[in-house]
Amino acid sequence: MSIRTDHPGTLAQDRGRAFSTRALSTTTTPGDGHAARATPIYLTAGFVLDDFDHAHARFAGESEDDGFVYTRHGNPTTRTVEARLASLEGGDEAILLASGQAAVAATLLGLLSAGDRLVSSASIYEGTKGLILEHLGRFGIGVDFVGDPADPAAWEAAITDRTRAAFGESIPNPRNDVLDIPTVAGIAHRHGIPLVVDNTLATPALLRPLEHGADVVVHSASKFLAGHGSALGGAIVLAPADRWDQSRYPQLAERTGPDGLTALDRSGDRAFAIYLRDLVVPRLGAAPSPINAFLIGQGLETLALRVERQSENAATIAAFLAERPEVARVDYAGLPGSPHHATARRLLGDGCGSVFAVTLAGGLPAARAVFDAVEVFTRMTHLGDVRSLILHPASTTHLLRTPAELESSGIGPGLLRLSVGIEDVQDLLADLAQALDAIGRPVPAAVEADGSPDGRKAPALPGPVTGPAARAATSPVALAHRALTAQEA
Ligand SMILES: Cc1ncc(COP(=O)(O)O)c(C=O)c1O
Repeated sequence: MSIRTDHPGTLAQDRGRAFSTRALSTTTTPGDGHAARATPIYLTAGFVLDDFDHAHARFAGESEDDGFVYTRHGNPTTRTVEARLASLEGGDEAILLASGQAAVAATLLGLLSAGDRLVSSASIYEGTKGLILEHLGRFGIGVDFVGDPADPAAWEAAITDRTRAAFGESIPNPRNDVLDIPTVAGIAHRHGIPLVVDNTLATPALLRPLEHGADVVVHSASKFLAGHGSALGGAIVLAPADRWDQSRYPQLAERTGPDGLTALDRSGDRAFAIYLRDLVVPRLGAAPSPINAFLIGQGLETLALRVERQSENAATIAAFLAERPEVARVDYAGLPGSPHHATARRLLGDGCGSVFAVTLAGGLPAARAVFDAVEVFTRMTHLGDVRSLILHPASTTHLLRTPAELESSGIGPGLLRLSVGIEDVQDLLADLAQALDAIGRPVPAAVEADGSPDGRKAPALPGPVTGPAARAATSPVALAHRALTAQEA
């Protein structure tokens, strides 16, 4: 992959170098005399302060060394991975957190105060939707969802004089309705507010939102950035805040330093970045373990290769599924027939990603048959793994949504979500072909008497719970459990 972008976040020695080269950039970890080429893991809670003056200088940000004091505020391993990610995303700086959910929460907490409003695409991850509606809402922050994110007039109409941020996802799941970032960024900036883009599914290998006008990028680094599925992580990547009006955010001017200046006076376009890094993120407390930071850094080194292969595999599989008689629709922006194909071609690089939805004509029984029949695909709630994964959102991640909400999210009972991995594509095609053949296969007689094909109860799709199960299903414990598990995947 030969993408060349130079920007302030790129290390001096990497200027002019392509994406894949920068992904392997020399570590920026301060030298400890051993010259390790791989990123060393600094597994320590704190850092030694030499004497009284050194302690003060580090806390005041005036020390001449790396300035680390406590891993919740920063760590050399984490800082190395942050620098590499900032370079790949074309940002000024990046902040690594313990999960993608923490990255979204910290960004929105940093931007929004009680009485403010967020304008957001309605086509976003369930966990983010829950955070906005149920938690930010409880603190007096309102949201205006844009039902058709491809319609610029709908964004324009949803912005009020209290709106302080716009939010969307570059490749939303499961609809694959690719966000027209330049258009939405233009609208946001006319209103003096930043556009935050969740770039988890596109990754900087396919799309760098900051280059298209977005101001803040967030990631679930647990997904493609890591790729191996063995660590959770999140990231915030920031462009200089020169396209939106930071003076409308009182939290950036709340505190004056010993010099009487506020962060805004002192830091100009970096005020929001500093506010996030120094205050919001450490106080929220979701610092990544240096081990997880290391694992994410390992993933970044092979990101371009993986994403290229995954996108190729996904395009082949989507085309195959679209031709199958059992399939009602395939929501993949890479298919020429997709209403989002033109936007995808305009914004995405070498590929359209590898997470998409297939809706089976046979509805729930067909989805169940395919889900249970796959052998190479793994049944699991996760995305962007090197392994291919399959999930039935209506009976799992979206269990709490009403039928109307599911319909407006484009999630029917026959919809399966695929996250395509790096396996040999012929094995993946053969697996899906044999799984589709399982649709309508007679149910084994031994378990038919039980009323469900494999001896389990039919999946509980949203709807009124009645009969003896009602009390158990609506008990506080069951509800709390469902609320915690249903949204986060
Ligand atoms: C688009 C998107 N953003 C954010 C998240 C949250 O990330 P994490 O699970 O790392 O907290 C997810 C998780 O699936 C996601 O798909």
